Amino acid sequence: MDYPTTTLSDNYDRLSHNPMWNQAMRNAIKERLEREKGDPCLMAERAGILPDNWQSDLLRSDAKQMILNCSRQSGKSTITAVLGLHTALFQDNALILLLSPSLRQSVELFKKLKDFYTAVASPFLPTATEESTLRLQFSNGSRVVALPGSESTVRGYSAVSLLILDEASRIDDALYFSVKPMLATSNGKLILLSSPYGRRGVFYDIWENGADDWLRIKIVASQCPRISSAFLESERRTLPAFWFDQEYMGIFCETMDSVFSFADIAAAIDPNVKPLIFL
Ligand SMILES: Nc1ncnc2c1ncn2[C@@H]1O[C@H](COP(=O)(O)OP(=O)(O)OP(=O)(O)O)[C@@H](O)[C@H]1O
Ligand SMILES: [Mg+2]
Repeated sequence: MDYPTTTLSDNYDRLSHNPMWNQAMRNAIKERLEREKGDPCLMAERAGILPDNWQSDLLRSDAKQMILNCSRQSGKSTITAVLGLHTALFQDNALILLLSPSLRQSVELFKKLKDFYTAVASPFLPTATEESTLRLQFSNGSRVVALPGSESTVRGYSAVSLLILDEASRIDDALYFSVKPMLATSNGKLILLSSPYGRRGVFYDIWENGADDWLRIKIVASQCPRISSAFLESERRTLPAFWFDQEYMGIFCETMDSVFSFADIAAAIDPNVKPLIFL
C-alpha cells in the first residue's frame, strides 16, 4: 500500500470499522516509519522540509564529526534540528544537546526541533512525556536539552548521542573544550555549524586545520535556492565587504585596516544581551 498523503497521525485517527482496512493502514504506517528510521530525509519531508542536496548529505552521513561553514539563512539550523529529532525518535535513550553562544539562541534551535516533532508525531512513534522550554523527554528514554553557552553551567552531561553547536564560530573555546569529553564514551556525533566570524577560535581552527575525520560542508549564499540574487546584490552593495564575505560567502576575514582586531571586537560582544531591535 502506498503511503497516504495525510499525516500518519491523521490516518490513525481515521481508522475505519473495517479491521482488515485498519490492519493494512497500520502496516503501511509502520512500514513508512521503518523507512524514515533508515532515511532521515523521509522524516524531513513529512515535517515539511524537502532537503537541499547538502542537507540530504548531512542527514544521511555516518561521519562522527561535521563542520558546516554555511551562509546565513541557508538552512543549517533547520537541518540539524531535523537530525536531532530523528536521533531522539529512532534511537532509544539518546541524549541530544543543543548549544549556542547564548541560551536564547539554543532555545530558538530547540523550538525548531519541537515544531518538527509536532509535525511528525504519531502514535507509532515515541511520545513526548515531559516538555518544557528547555527540555523534551520521550517515552523511549531519549532527551533533548537546550543549554546556555557558558562553560560553568553545561558540565554534568555524559554519554551524549548528538552534540549540536549552533553559531559555533561565536562559541567560547573553553565551552567547546568542556563539552567535547561528553562524547568520549558514547561514540556520539558532533556538529559545529556557523557562518565564519573572523580568523579566530575553535570553529576557524577546525575548519582550517582539523583532521580528515571532519566532514566539511561549505555552502555560500548563491547555492541556496531560497536566497534571491537580487537580495544578495543589495546586501553586497550595502554591507562592508568583509561582513558580506563572512555572512554570505563563507570567508574567514581579518580586517587589516580596523582600529581593533577582530578578536578584540568579538571578545567585547555579550551574546546574552538581547538586541534592542529585531530585524
Ligand atoms: N530545505 C528547505 N526547504 C524549505 N525551507 C527551508 C529549507 N531549509 C531551511 N529552510 C528555511 O529557511 C529559513 C532559514 O533556515 P535556518 O534558520 O535553518 O537557516 P540558518 O542557516 O540557520 O540561518 P542563520 O545563519 O540566520 O541562523 C527558515 O525559514 C527555514 O525554515
Ligand atoms: Mg541558524
